Amino acid sequence: PFYMIKEINEVPQIIYNTTNYYSKNKVLENIPKGFWKGISRIKLIACGTSYHACLIGEHLLSEIGYDTTSYIASEFIYSDPIIDKNTLCVFVSQSGETADTLSAINIAKQKGAKTIGITNVLTSTITKICDYILPIKCGAEIAVASTKAYNGQLTVFYILSKYLSNNIKNYKKVLNDLKKLNKIIDIKNIEEQIKPLVKAVLDSNTVFMVGRQTDYVTSLESSLKLKEITYINCQGYASGELKHGTISLVDNNTLVFAYITNKKLANKTINVVKQTQSRGAKLCVVSPFDDILTDTTINYKIKLPSCPEYLYPLIAVLPMQLLSYHTSVTLGYNPDKPRNLAKSITVE
Ligand code: G6P
Repeated sequence: PFYMIKEINEVPQIIYNTTNYYSKNKVLENIPKGFWKGISRIKLIACGTSYHACLIGEHLLSEIGYDTTSYIASEFIYSDPIIDKNTLCVFVSQSGETADTLSAINIAKQKGAKTIGITNVLTSTITKICDYILPIKCGAEIAVASTKAYNGQLTVFYILSKYLSNNIKNYKKVLNDLKKLNKIIDIKNIEEQIKPLVKAVLDSNTVFMVGRQTDYVTSLESSLKLKEITYINCQGYASGELKHGTISLVDNNTLVFAYITNKKLANKTINVVKQTQSRGAKLCVVSPFDDILTDTTINYKIKLPSCPEYLYPLIAVLPMQLLSYHTSVTLGYNPDKPRNLAKSITVE
């Protein structure tokens, strides 16, 4: 009935298509080796959902030892960032036409940076001004709220970071692991699990989405989705930061979603969200881990399918893409065309 649900259903296939495209066409291998040489820092720049993809990219590139920072494009252009010829700037834009991102590219180029664009539209302006382009193979994305393009952007960051790690075994492994997700992700199963939560969202005044590290990024992107198409007040937050002020907003009309896909940090996040529960909040845990989900005091649970732990950001965002969609439709809105928003913002 709407493009948005069609596009969410395409996620498993686009992860496969994007990965297959990179392995078949040797997209990264075809960029001259000299381009990658001498890079001392990496800056990732974008707006909206694409910025959240950068935040995952920042985790992945930092893990392999690159000094990496993400920027909101409209902030980057006024921040006088330290950039030289050894700086790689990666610009992410589904449309390739976002004005703030294009301005940021011009600034980075003036300062002598090496530039890469990650985009879904190979005829767009970004493709004409960056040194190299890394495509995502998503097909046209019509719904204003970006879904499949986010998963495509993450896919490219996974491939890029493993390529730059200079470890051929890890690079081959990521290509294999990504391709297998196609069989692991069951959109219908996640959709069935989130349907009872539509009422819980509608019954609450405030929704928080929390997590740590990459789960925090999933919280930010998930809360943006819910805000964009349901107009419900929702904040993505780092779970450990709630206690520094924001927990004062929590009462018995609050719904808290906790993302827990990092085994080592699971208990830390559980401890925090239990504190919100003791202040009246209802709690939904989104996790693949059975031992976390057996806790009977959790009000709602969403079980993610099992996959290699490092790939969970690609899957953990799906429940909230679907929940946002179903909540929007239940409220009688058109999820494809939310108020006050445009698919591509070509003015500053
Ligand atoms: C607009 C859209 C968002 C999108 C952002 C960046 O604000 O409503 O969904 O994430 O632009 O778009 P881009 O095409 O540059 O990724």
